[in-house]
Amino acid sequence: MCGIVGYIGKNQALPILLEGLKKLEYRGYDSSGIAIIGPEGLTTEKSVGKLANLEQKLPSRTITGTIGIGHTRWATHGRPSDANAHPHLSPNGRFAVVHNGIVENYLQIKEHYLAGHTFCSETDTEVIAHLLEKFYDGDFEDAVRQMLQVVRGAFALVMICLEEPDKIIACRKDSPMVLGVGDGENFIASDVPALLSHTRQCIYVEKDEICLLTAEKIIIKDQNGNIIDKTVHTIAWDAESAEKDGYDDFMLKEIYEQPQAFRKVLSGRIEQGKVAFSEFELTENELAKWRKIYIVACGTAYHAGLVGKMIFEKLAHIPTEVEVASEFRYREPMLNEETLVLVISQSGETADTVAALREAKAHGAKVIAITNVLGSAIARESDYTLYLWAGPEISVASTKAYTTMLIAEYLLGAYFAQIKGTITNERLAEILHALAQLPEKAQQLLSNDFIQQINTIAEGYQKVHNLFFIGRGLDWAIVLEGALKLKEISYIHAEAYAAGELKHGTLALITDETPVIALCVQESTYEKTISNIKEVKARDAQVLIVTSENHQQEAAQISDAQLLLPLADNFIAPILSVIPLQLIAYYTAKIRGCNIDQPRNLAKSVTVE
Ligand code: AGP
Repeated sequence: MCGIVGYIGKNQALPILLEGLKKLEYRGYDSSGIAIIGPEGLTTEKSVGKLANLEQKLPSRTITGTIGIGHTRWATHGRPSDANAHPHLSPNGRFAVVHNGIVENYLQIKEHYLAGHTFCSETDTEVIAHLLEKFYDGDFEDAVRQMLQVVRGAFALVMICLEEPDKIIACRKDSPMVLGVGDGENFIASDVPALLSHTRQCIYVEKDEICLLTAEKIIIKDQNGNIIDKTVHTIAWDAESAEKDGYDDFMLKEIYEQPQAFRKVLSGRIEQGKVAFSEFELTENELAKWRKIYIVACGTAYHAGLVGKMIFEKLAHIPTEVEVASEFRYREPMLNEETLVLVISQSGETADTVAALREAKAHGAKVIAITNVLGSAIARESDYTLYLWAGPEISVASTKAYTTMLIAEYLLGAYFAQIKGTITNERLAEILHALAQLPEKAQQLLSNDFIQQINTIAEGYQKVHNLFFIGRGLDWAIVLEGALKLKEISYIHAEAYAAGELKHGTLALITDETPVIALCVQESTYEKTISNIKEVKARDAQVLIVTSENHQQEAAQISDAQLLLPLADNFIAPILSVIPLQLIAYYTAKIRGCNIDQPRNLAKSVTVE
């Protein structure tokens, strides 16, 4: 949610800032801007809309200077416009600020500290630039420290000062920030992909740290001004993993990366017929203490949690509740030392999930995180972290993170069960064998023939206004995700319903203009779902059945179209069942001409509550 970049060094800042912003555009894309200090002083350019609009405005890239900052925005305070785009300037034009997050007390600041000031934007950010000017007395760092005493909220800030053009100052409270260590040059970004083409050496900035970057060095201090010794990490990804690599869209690339991502999330975690994690080891006593699990997450990660509930209850016999993070923390959930809270988040920085995690810890609950982002807030603050190792997920619509979240949950559930003794060795072996087969089976679903079938189905959906997904049990959890994918990127209204629940009201909406996608993979509810399919067929709905290949004949008799999945252990099958739904969403959105990686109104990581 908002991307920020900064550069100081020996090269021209402008192309480096623009390239970095391009890599971060998934974080927000309603406006963008840059500020550079050079021979002409402090120059800014901003534009509403995508980064391409800003590039068009820049007169043949003539803004020179080797220090600069940039921003790509997802609007919180004030609609997308040139004026509300970052960077924001101080009244004398000598300070420029880019900001990710929210200044919660900006109205009080205007009243108490900046009475009489005229503001050029509707944003909360502009007060920061005004405060810097107000507090500046020849020492940029000191002005930043005074400003930080005043502002409240969750943010990451990057600032430059015309009077001190040899440094960038950056600081964070909650919103993510990473520094890139170069040779005679240094970088700042809200996420690693923006750094990868320049350096793999990086420093993760922690809460309340203040960073001073010159071309030659990086100094990081705590709130009291003490220098902190920070670890420089080497990023394992290569620059290509954050590129489209010949695919039209990141989403498609990420769907195709799933077999490989499955191998990575499983790698080294199944040893001699047992599950083991290098990240942590739990004891029987510890597990015996946990009488209840809460799974807390948002959006797609919440949908992964719904599958998790069925896994933990079935395998480890621990009652499990699943809640959206934005509701969880405000309803005073019953948390104590006997509760395990499992937080799931691709980005590891979703504000609602971070807040739920803190609530859980404050009540003495233990927290296990499942996340994809190394060193993210959620990874750092949880008691135990299980990484997805899925590689960067750039598209706003989550795909490979979702399926690897499911695999991580199956592994964790099996791990609990083997420690608690709630699973037989035979069943454990079957589950682990089925997991190991997933990469190959997922690859089958990406064959040209299957993609051709999906394209034909997507063509049929291109003019549709409303669509229903139905399923039962694990199939129901998966159709919820299928519906979210379709809504998010194609803007077709879709609802996912527990198949048996339709007749309690919603069946009234089924007509020949409301196609139904029925997921019918779970054998235990197969017959029942077939009856529900007949109910919608009787109301003239066009039905697509997604089922296992052994049901081909019956599916063909009762539906208008069929997609057949390779046979897999029924309990593990959801990981495969979702892939055709991801592909349907993708190709339908593509045919409708939607911007798939950057759907309207959304951003990849939601760092505001
Ligand atoms: C997924 O397609 C969505 N864009 C969204 O629901 C996402 O899963 C949600 O915002 C949670 O993100 P997280 O996994 O990074 O916490």
